[in-house]
Amino acid sequence: MKIGPYHLINNLFLAPMAGVTDRPFRQLCKRLGAGMAVSEMVSSNSLLWGSEKTRRRANHVGETEPCAVQIAGADPALMANAARYNVDNGAQIIDINMGCPAKKVCNVMSGSALLQDTSLVSRILEAVVNAVNVPVTLKIRTGWDRDHRNGVTVAQIAEQTGIMALAVHGRTRACGYSGDAEYDTIAAIKAAVYIPVIANGDITTPEKAKFVLDYTGADGIMIGRAAQGNPWIFGIIDHYLRTGDILPVTPIPDIRSVMNDHLVQLYDFYGDYIGIRVARKHISWYSKGQPGGAAFRQAIDKVETVEQQISMINDFFDSLESGLRKAA
Ligand SMILES: Cc1cc2nc3c(=O)[nH]c(=O)nc-3n(C[C@H](O)[C@H](O)[C@H](O)COP(=O)(O)O)c2cc1C
Repeated sequence: MKIGPYHLINNLFLAPMAGVTDRPFRQLCKRLGAGMAVSEMVSSNSLLWGSEKTRRRANHVGETEPCAVQIAGADPALMANAARYNVDNGAQIIDINMGCPAKKVCNVMSGSALLQDTSLVSRILEAVVNAVNVPVTLKIRTGWDRDHRNGVTVAQIAEQTGIMALAVHGRTRACGYSGDAEYDTIAAIKAAVYIPVIANGDITTPEKAKFVLDYTGADGIMIGRAAQGNPWIFGIIDHYLRTGDILPVTPIPDIRSVMNDHLVQLYDFYGDYIGIRVARKHISWYSKGQPGGAAFRQAIDKVETVEQQISMINDFFDSLESGLRKAA
């Protein structure tokens, strides 16, 4: 699959998730088989750009190409500025967020609320596409509520304004994250445009990935929550799509080793204080479903130093591995 000049190794995308898809997690998912990973959203409000948080979100040092940065906002001129700023800071692809239902996105109509105003959508897309010399992509929901699924119209606008690829989350804005994602609107969008369409929503297994690709005809798929604590999902899906075989469940020692590497990257990227706190949610996802996981998570959430965090993880995984040895 190709976006502008960038050939991706496959058609599997890590979904942008604020607070999750930081540089260490993107890099990990790319290493384990994601063809593309979009950064967390950066606000188009330039007053926020000097903040530590935004600077970190715009940090791509050592990241496997292409580096895609997502921007959000509702003012065409501000969005154009934000796109330029991020390209100047290393973004090789700009992704526009019209898919997020959160009200706090800039405290103005933006994210998926924009889908209600197609003339504004058109002005924002044009402003951003004209502002930068890199490919611009778009992420949308299927519409703003079940009676107004205007995803096909928005996709056509996107194609006309020069958007290079379109990711579609199979829910409306009003749906939030409830109910099941629906793929009929994504199929209709795919049939209506020539640009690559990436299907998103509730893809959690290799079989579901294949089903969604077949059902929608989409060019690629995007995975969000199912990658939390499971960055292997990309390699597992890639293998299944190529061979039809399901790889065995990731062994405990592999989980331990990948998680430990991931945590080292987090401490390095955020510093110890924030790193420990960001690590907590990943540790919790990695340990989900393991025996004794609930008590372990409760205990590790109270730990305040890197040494204690690592030592508690080592104890937990030692006991998991010795349990496995006894059972064998
Ligand atoms: C914690 C979290 C943060 C998210 N942040 C963003 C974001 O910043 N930009 C965006 O376009 N979508 C965001 N999303 C939506 C995801 O990209 C994706 O569309 C959604 O989770 C559905 O995919 P999934 O079922 O594979 O998780 C977020 C989702 C979650 C769970």
